[in-house]
Amino acid sequence: MKDSKKIAITGGGGQIAYSILFRIAEGGLLGHEQPIELRILEIPEAKKTLDGVVMELEDCAFPLVTKIVASTDPYEIFENAQIALLIGAKPRAPGMERSDLLVENAKIFIEQGKALNEKAASDILVFVVGNPCNTNAWITMQNAPKIDRSRFFAMTRLDQNRAKALLAKRSGAPVREIKQMTIWGNHSSTQVPDFTHVKIAGKPAEEVIQDRRWLETEFIETVQKRGTAVLEARGKSSAASAANAAINSICSLMQPTPDGEWFSVGICSDGNPYGVEENLIFSFPCRSKGNGQIEIVSGLEIDPFIKEKIEASEKELIQERG
Ligand code: NAD
Ligand code: LMR
Repeated sequence: MKDSKKIAITGGGGQIAYSILFRIAEGGLLGHEQPIELRILEIPEAKKTLDGVVMELEDCAFPLVTKIVASTDPYEIFENAQIALLIGAKPRAPGMERSDLLVENAKIFIEQGKALNEKAASDILVFVVGNPCNTNAWITMQNAPKIDRSRFFAMTRLDQNRAKALLAKRSGAPVREIKQMTIWGNHSSTQVPDFTHVKIAGKPAEEVIQDRRWLETEFIETVQKRGTAVLEARGKSSAASAANAAINSICSLMQPTPDGEWFSVGICSDGNPYGVEENLIFSFPCRSKGNGQIEIVSGLEIDPFIKEKIEASEKELIQERG
């Protein structure tokens, strides 16, 4: 049997955690041959809820789970962690933008960055879900200088999945036939779902859909505002779809990307081939060589309509960085 991988998850009493923990424990993240140690963080006010979740995890008797550590101390939870899923943060309420959470949530990521810096495995992969996730990932990175900047990621996969689902619905093609869907920029309402390189069953999306106006307007806006639509309908922000997207992201980071495909994730923009300001966590089209070693897909021609939108998202991230 292989050694256990130590996976740290924050916000263990929250709604995304309630979905993701059971999928991770079942083998959905690292496969059915990889034993795992779950290390789960909560704040003291929600520790009792986390204790209940731990009871349920135990009651599943998952064969892959070798140990569960639940604590309110990030320094204990991140000790030798190899993957950290930073989910624990306040979600927005109806009427708010994700950036409205910055003041309150930034403190969490300063503290957790410091704890990761001191305690985590040096090659840890840090994946941030808590909003505003790009800037929270940037804050974490700034506070963890011992960890290579290429190991910090922010989640834009939910946006990618939403965009693929919408294109599948509109074109009638199955979701698995929608490839090369890029989300550029910030996980916010300025994000840029770029339809110009998408292939639907091997053909350019614009050729299949034959309605550039719809792609430029309704398609982009629906993806940009989908989080808000879910929040308004449920009264709470997305949870199961967010958990699913986080699992998809880690799988994409850890496994080599198949030919003819790429995926979107927020990464450090240092040295990027598209002239985006450095020192941001910015979503790009990426490919993985496995084990979190990724590279930005280079050489894409950027449509002028899309370029203008990318610049607006870049500007927003520069402002959030302060
Ligand atoms: P939730 O309120 O249900 O759960 C968050 C949990 O985090 C709570 O139990 C809370 O006690 C805990 N927490 C708060 N501060 C913490 C800290 N310092 N350490 C550890 N735990 C802490 O929220 P949720 O629905 O699970 O969402 C979590 C975050 O994920 C929110 O910020 C939300 O906006 C974000 N989110 C991001 C995406 C994305 O696509 N990037 C998608 C959905 C949700
Ligand atoms: C989402 O996109 O669903 C999440 O970022 C939650 C939110 O606040 O919209």
